[in-house]
Amino acid sequence: MNGILRDMVRENHVRVDELIYPVFVAEGENICRPVKSMPGICQYSLDRLPEELDRTVDAGVRAVLLFGIPAHKDPKGSGAYDEDGIIPQAVRLIRERYEDLLVIADVCLCEYTSHGHCGLVREGEILNDETLPLLAAASVAYARAGADIIAPSDMMDRRVAAIRTALDRAGFVHIPILSYAAKFASGYYGPFRDAAQSAPGFGDRRTYQMDPANGREALREVEQDLAEGADMIIAKPALAYMDVIREIVYHYNVPVVAYNVSGEYAMVKAAAANGWIDERRIVMENLLGFKRAGAGMIITYHALEAAGWLQEERR
Ligand code: PBG
Ligand code: ZN
Repeated sequence: MNGILRDMVRENHVRVDELIYPVFVAEGENICRPVKSMPGICQYSLDRLPEELDRTVDAGVRAVLLFGIPAHKDPKGSGAYDEDGIIPQAVRLIRERYEDLLVIADVCLCEYTSHGHCGLVREGEILNDETLPLLAAASVAYARAGADIIAPSDMMDRRVAAIRTALDRAGFVHIPILSYAAKFASGYYGPFRDAAQSAPGFGDRRTYQMDPANGREALREVEQDLAEGADMIIAKPALAYMDVIREIVYHYNVPVVAYNVSGEYAMVKAAAANGWIDERRIVMENLLGFKRAGAGMIITYHALEAAGWLQEERR
């Protein structure tokens, strides 16, 4: 009986519908390349992608966040806004084969630039304004391919406005923008940069990502992005920034998404592999923590495993 009462008074729940699974799609053939620092996560070429998407759908996960890994990188990140680039191709494949999968396309240049920065670079400086049309072109290309949501993660100033205008002009007024508004310059992205081969070749991202010391600045970034037309907001990383999630939820009446990033995933996997923690328990506790902080949706590399555990709990 106590168990029933505990269930009834439980304040927060993790639901499989709220999980978003990040997927790395690589140009090439017959690729299923494990990411060393992220056990269980691989890069897939288009011909192998359906294996992972079948697992996603079978697990009951209904949304994916796509990242592209081009065969060639150049200073301008051309692969990001090529209509036949890896992401438009992946999106078209999903549209053809998977009826019930929500496709969120990450928009950034860093996976496509030879220098690994999120924007154009001249003489060691990031060119904010010159980058905006490229981000807008990428967004339109992904929308045209059939993406449901556009998620810019570059952190250039005024990019949400540029993307909104471009989408509207191209006839995609209905496509929402999920903005990485509160994105901190974090050590927790390390494993992702292995996965996307996108570590900056010089310097770091501190000129455009936020200082981990600043919580109030995050709110200003959110306000700015909402004013420019963002429909939903991502806070990232998640674990060390629970206060930021909570503050955004209190201040703004929009859906807030927690991004449980690569380094958070890697730490859990490493400790679990050593038998130092109970993986299932820790993962579910982290996910529940994001919900308690007020997040609506959760982007997590644990999505498929978590979905399996949630299903077991229901039985
Ligand atoms: C690209 C991007 C990054 C992440 C999401 N989009 C990397 C970065 O900014 O260096 C990180 C995701 C993760 O660590 O899981 N701008
Ligand atoms: Zn980037």
